[in-house]
Amino acid sequence: MSILVTGGAGYIGSHTVVELLNNDYEVVIVDDFSNSHPTVLDRIKELTGKDFTFYELNLLDKENLQNVFLENDIEAVIHFAGFKAVGESVSLPLEYYHNNVTGTIVLLEVMKEFNVKNIVFSSSATVYGMDNKAPFTEDMPTSATNPYGYTKVVIEHILEDLAVADNEWSPILLRYFNPIGAHESGRIGEDPNDIPNNLMPYITQVAVQKLEKLSIYGDDYDTPDGTGVRDYIHVVDLAKGHLKALDYSLNHTGAQAVNLGTGEGYSVLDVVHAFEKANDIKIPYEIVKRRPGDIAVGYADPTKAKDLLGWEAKHSLEDMCRTSWKWQKNNPQGYKE
Ligand code: UFG
Repeated sequence: MSILVTGGAGYIGSHTVVELLNNDYEVVIVDDFSNSHPTVLDRIKELTGKDFTFYELNLLDKENLQNVFLENDIEAVIHFAGFKAVGESVSLPLEYYHNNVTGTIVLLEVMKEFNVKNIVFSSSATVYGMDNKAPFTEDMPTSATNPYGYTKVVIEHILEDLAVADNEWSPILLRYFNPIGAHESGRIGEDPNDIPNNLMPYITQVAVQKLEKLSIYGDDYDTPDGTGVRDYIHVVDLAKGHLKALDYSLNHTGAQAVNLGTGEGYSVLDVVHAFEKANDIKIPYEIVKRRPGDIAVGYADPTKAKDLLGWEAKHSLEDMCRTSWKWQKNNPQGYKE
């Protein structure tokens, strides 16, 4: 029996595949390399000493996806594949809805055809929208501020509706907070296309002198130092959360949304200072105007993950800063060496 990992060559996907292989799961990866690089597959093998099956494939290619299910005995799916750049989604809404939503529908149709009804889905804390007050709990109403966020909201609804229509389905909707950090080895990590949109990869590219200075989007929020507050979570903690969610899905039915966060909020300046301290590097920055669509404060109530899945984040912000830098320093061009 194998676990199918869509988007398994991506940042969170690759860290999750390492955990799966280290826990003796058989893994099949599907990835189209739209935002990832083939080198990561060699690194995963190097780190785990284990092999897996790989298909270069976009989920919209139904016929070839059916072949994956014909050729492998798939027990459950961990579904990461999707476009994820908030700003780009505003310029390319049709591409985002088609790739993320239609791609997921095709995947679910094929799963149904092959009677595979366990799925762990990469959702996002972005579904808490602008109007909820942190700490966010899973029962809060969901919404979004951009097409990327709406694809997550819509896919959550599709999975919940599926579990209502057929009580054999067990979708787990994992709402990630802000994943940063990298594998302790420094061999796999986050490798954004172009200029990073997110805070930590931007900081590490300033540290490696690919970028001149960090722009901090606003210091006039209603937060202790005026900069935005988020719940940063180590990607390896996040990856381990997927194994717990998989286990839960395989042993229960019905849909569950679960936050994966630490429950701690840190400001942009906290992260900059933690990075400087952990790595003994100065990060030049300037304060610029707010970025449209950003909330002031977002962090998880992580109680449900603990009660339902038996999962808790373990790594400190210092670990996250240290491993993010180790990855970037050892791989200044990411996987594109
Ligand atoms: N920030 C900066 N400068 C930068 C980048 C970010 O000041 O160059 C600030 C942001 O304003 C925010 C914080 O750093 O206060 C974190 O920003 P990120 O872009 O790293 O993360 P977001 O919280 O905006 O977004 C992330 C994911 C989204 C997801 C969202 C859910 O990138 O995919 O969390 O909360 F939808």
